Amino acid sequence: MNTFDENDQRNHPRPEDTEFSKMVDNVLSRRQLLGAAGAGLGLFFGGQGLAYAANTSANMGPRIGFKPVAANSLDTVSVPIGYEWRVLASWGDTIFPGGAPFDPVTRGTATSQSTSIGDNNDGMSFFSLGADHGVIAVNNEYANYEYLFTNGRCNSLEDTRKAQAAHGVSVFEVRRTAGVWTLQPHARLNRRITATTEMRLSGPAAGSAWLKTQADPTGTVALGTFNNCANGRTPWGTYLTCEENFNGYFGSAESVPDQAAFKRYGISAKGAGLNWYPFDPRFDVAKNPNEPNRFGWVVEIDPMDPNSTPIKRTALGRLKHENAEVVVNADGHVVVYMGDDEKGEHIYKFVSAKKWDAKNPSANRDLLDEGTLYVARFSTVDGKAQGEGEWLALTHGKNGLTAEAGFHDQAEVLVHTRLAATVVGATTMDRPEWIAAHPTQAQVYVTLTNNSDRGEKTNQAVNGPNPRAKNVYGQIVRWTPKGNDHTSHHFTWDIFALAGNPTQHNDAYAGSANITPDNMFNSPDGLAFDREGRLWIQTDGDYSNAKDFAGMGNNQMLCANPVTGEIKRFMVGPVACEITGIAFTPDQQTMFVGIQHPGEKLAPSHFPQRGDAVPRSSIVAISRRDGGVVGT
Ligand code: FEO
Ligand code: CA
Ligand code: CA
Ligand code: CA
Repeated sequence: MNTFDENDQRNHPRPEDTEFSKMVDNVLSRRQLLGAAGAGLGLFFGGQGLAYAANTSANMGPRIGFKPVAANSLDTVSVPIGYEWRVLASWGDTIFPGGAPFDPVTRGTATSQSTSIGDNNDGMSFFSLGADHGVIAVNNEYANYEYLFTNGRCNSLEDTRKAQAAHGVSVFEVRRTAGVWTLQPHARLNRRITATTEMRLSGPAAGSAWLKTQADPTGTVALGTFNNCANGRTPWGTYLTCEENFNGYFGSAESVPDQAAFKRYGISAKGAGLNWYPFDPRFDVAKNPNEPNRFGWVVEIDPMDPNSTPIKRTALGRLKHENAEVVVNADGHVVVYMGDDEKGEHIYKFVSAKKWDAKNPSANRDLLDEGTLYVARFSTVDGKAQGEGEWLALTHGKNGLTAEAGFHDQAEVLVHTRLAATVVGATTMDRPEWIAAHPTQAQVYVTLTNNSDRGEKTNQAVNGPNPRAKNVYGQIVRWTPKGNDHTSHHFTWDIFALAGNPTQHNDAYAGSANITPDNMFNSPDGLAFDREGRLWIQTDGDYSNAKDFAGMGNNQMLCANPVTGEIKRFMVGPVACEITGIAFTPDQQTMFVGIQHPGEKLAPSHFPQRGDAVPRSSIVAISRRDGGVVGT
């Protein structure tokens, strides 16, 4: 049983998107045009891309030197010739003195799970403590009940506590000896944060009526974090963990209050089958109708202080957060880009009111509490896969966010961010996943993973950055803020890669010109730049290797040159996994990559084959045999 199949999310009706209906035909012709015209010049899909490449003719982008890996369906990790990989840590590895080793027969208890690495590692960051020493903070998005429980179900309070302990964030130190990084199970900074850890709600929505419960009449103290998808890191050294599909953990034997927001966020009596509410009444939404409002936030964690209280930053809005990409603008304002991963949801950015002060780190601690939240509206000239866009402020009293529209104050705008985004006229997107900002240029990329729901039925018309109605493949869209200023209200955008299968289709579903039979993939999800500007793409897609997906094999990681559009496959994961989570050591000699849920839905995987048959989500360390920089 996979209770969180992200490719099976519900859609919901939305006001009509404007224009763009002829896009699919134009995408087809553009592939043909650019495929021919761009072949010798390294040009690729997208008009702005052409200009960008031409403007940087002296710079053909970062070198991508490895020989690509072939697609495959093996139950192992495949990396290029000259590279090697090792398992760094797996679900159930203890991170405290005296902790029990993973038991493949019982799969542990609530107690052992709370002192060991959680399940389904997802977004992660590496914080350096010296050349050969660091701390990793990694999300544990959800639990694979088919392996967590010997009978595959959560049937008791003990089961519920074990599942809750398998969620959250794992923090652990690592050290490198003779080129090999290992987990330090007794280290001082090791910490588990779970679905029951005490946290503080801060920012404009803290203390609001929507966040108050019987157990917390102040509306400022929340218990736990769960469904932590991807991540971010701040320049002041903290970790951001993003709460995604929180709705499915709530349910009730009674009926759920009739709220527009519950419908929009997918909160129902049925839940997603996780079955916490019969044993832990906090998750019974009829008894605690405000408890779901305390989830769906970005949470800030100090990985250097294991006793610190994690803080839910309400100024960043309440959505099904994917990641939080932090940029320090040239003028010192901190900008956070965020995607809301559901069919037809939106892309957001937060701009801090105050500026980052590099000389005074403690002055930056609460920068994420005060600022303006915006949502993106994309527009285009009809038929072009490029255009302009605008950031619309989600500020109470502006853009129609008034009491008459259901927003009495800024807290209400933030708790019901999705409803506010619709009021201001945000563009519906094909499931925004990770957002990544180029390390040296003002350019930002987003993965739009897939969307089967565009069409009249859902009032989600195709539009410029989301040009296909039955989008089984996904695309990567990018934008440049006006004047290279991340605080600007305006931007231009184009499509960097339209994923597809050129061996199965000869229309828009073949993908853009930089998609070939040798690098094709589906459902791009994880996305990050390394310091030299290589763009790393991770997939969470269909691994059937058949029909629309024939020739794509297992989920994979690719490396792209943002200047030329070149894309090469770097890695293939084991059976039925998702590749998600990426972090580099500062010397970039090691890349940490997440293998999430190998063998999901009882698919035949034994990864990582550490002496037992139970497949376990794991973090692997990848490096070059000659010790060089990964990717070059
Ligand atoms: Fe947890 Fe949208 O991926
Ligand atoms: Ca994801
Ligand atoms: Ca995904
Ligand atoms: Ca997954």
